[in-house]
Amino acid sequence: MRKLLGIGILALGVAAFAGTAMAADGMAIYKAKCAPCHGADGQGTAMAPAFKGNAWVKGAADAEIADTIVKGREGAAKKYKQYAIGMPKQKLADDEVKAVVAALKGMAK
Ligand code: HEC
Repeated sequence: MRKLLGIGILALGVAAFAGTAMAADGMAIYKAKCAPCHGADGQGTAMAPAFKGNAWVKGAADAEIADTIVKGREGAAKKYKQYAIGMPKQKLADDEVKAVVAALKGMAK
């Protein structure tokens, strides 16, 4: 059992390593960096809006969504008054932003 667990952990490590070498995984980035505020499946939380059924995400151009992610949306730029915090700007590589935008589009439809 112990040995099996060890092999499992090793396999996970290899998979994670392989992941960095391949195209950015939008859903993995989402779960790591966005889910704490936006919810594990994009259902939203008390802190931030949902992506599921989000009409703005559905209709906005990819570049517009990418802009919001990279620059954030705080202070006067905030759109939703019901959330105490703003959207903090995210430090992501271009391909990661692209992948995460695709993940949001997938959740919004
Ligand atoms: C600390 C909490 C927090 C984290 C982490 C966070 N967000 Fe946000 N996000 C917010 C809040 C709050 C808003 C609403 C801002 C406003 O009032 O306009 C928001 C808004 C957005 C919007 C605009 C939605 C709309 O309906 O206009 C997008 C897109 C977005 N976030 C994407 C992301 C992505 C992608 C990540 C991860 C890379 C992320 N956010 C991480 C809190 C967060």
